[in-house]
Amino acid sequence: MAFLIVAPDMKTASWVKHLSALDSAIDIRVWPQVGNADDIEFALCWNHPPGEFKKYKNLKCIASLGAGVDHIVRDPDLPAAVPVTRVVEPSMAQSMSEYAVLGVLNYCRQFDLYRSDQSQKKWQPRIPLLAADMRIGIMGLGQLGKDTAKKLSNLDFPVTGWSQTPKDIDGVKCFAGEDALDVFLSRSRILICMLPLTPKTRGILNHETFHKLPAGAYVINVARGQHLVEKDLLAAVDSGQLDGACLDVFEVEPLPENHPFWSNPKIIVTPHISSLTYPKAVAPQIIDNYHRMKSGKALLHRVDIKRGY
Ligand SMILES: NC(=O)c1ccc[n+]([C@@H]2O[C@H](COP(=O)([O-])OP(=O)(O)OC[C@H]3O[C@@H](n4cnc5c(N)ncnc54)[C@H](OP(=O)(O)O)[C@@H]3O)[C@@H](O)[C@H]2O)c1
Repeated sequence: MAFLIVAPDMKTASWVKHLSALDSAIDIRVWPQVGNADDIEFALCWNHPPGEFKKYKNLKCIASLGAGVDHIVRDPDLPAAVPVTRVVEPSMAQSMSEYAVLGVLNYCRQFDLYRSDQSQKKWQPRIPLLAADMRIGIMGLGQLGKDTAKKLSNLDFPVTGWSQTPKDIDGVKCFAGEDALDVFLSRSRILICMLPLTPKTRGILNHETFHKLPAGAYVINVARGQHLVEKDLLAAVDSGQLDGACLDVFEVEPLPENHPFWSNPKIIVTPHISSLTYPKAVAPQIIDNYHRMKSGKALLHRVDIKRGY
């Protein structure tokens, strides 16, 4: 029986190296060199070709290479009986929190303006935006959002969070459910999106949402490009409703060369790097799940497919 890595857009050598180092007896294959499809019991994947998994009749686990599973759930031919798992790793939360804290501090301390002043040899002190006035609203209080909320709260930013079900996080005012969205937004001077992509959250960063934020709000999106209606963001930045945005994820990636985000001085673009999956850090939990699958034990970090995350 075999373990298959299906990640057409990724370099997989490091995954093979770290997985094999933990258990050299596993027959690891890399798509499209699948061999006999009936051998495949475990699939580790990122952006697999839709319909691929229905070819493997002995498949017992589909594991996402990252924290998100939207790339799996969107496959209309996903075999319903095969459990899906995702990555939950402290280094991912740490990395995401670092990005969010950097995005917030960069904005509040106006570092973009100072870099631009420096290029013109201009000495131009500005009054910083005070942490106490910058209420942060975090959409999604899961593995990533909760860690970010705690870290920003520790820096004395007032932090509010929004999730599907109620939460209790020290120092963080928590709201839950659609009914609480408007009041959550009305308090969020800086809005950070850390939601999974589901039918309910697709396009949630839109014109209506932006106009429920305080005027001159700032948006950070580190979740998925499809959460954001890009033309609505541009319009909100142009009108001044938003003071700017820091974006790590986009509708189309890589961001096309002619995309207006590239040249907008109010928008920071990074190439989907806010929280990467490190094969060395994550391989142990993947191998653990492989052994659990083999011995019929409960899998770690199983995803609720109906809920979509
Ligand atoms: N850019 C990157 O490099 C990168 C890296 C890793 C992950 N991500 C993205 O970040 C997402 C979040 O990751 P995670 O590990 O924190 O996920 P998670 O642990 O599953 O947490 C998701 C959070 O979102 C909330 N939520 C889901 N649907 C909601 C809705 N309709 N309304 C309100 N709240 C809702 C959940 O509420 P409950 O707690 O009540 O269920 C939960 O708090 C991933 O799905 C992925 O898309 C991006």
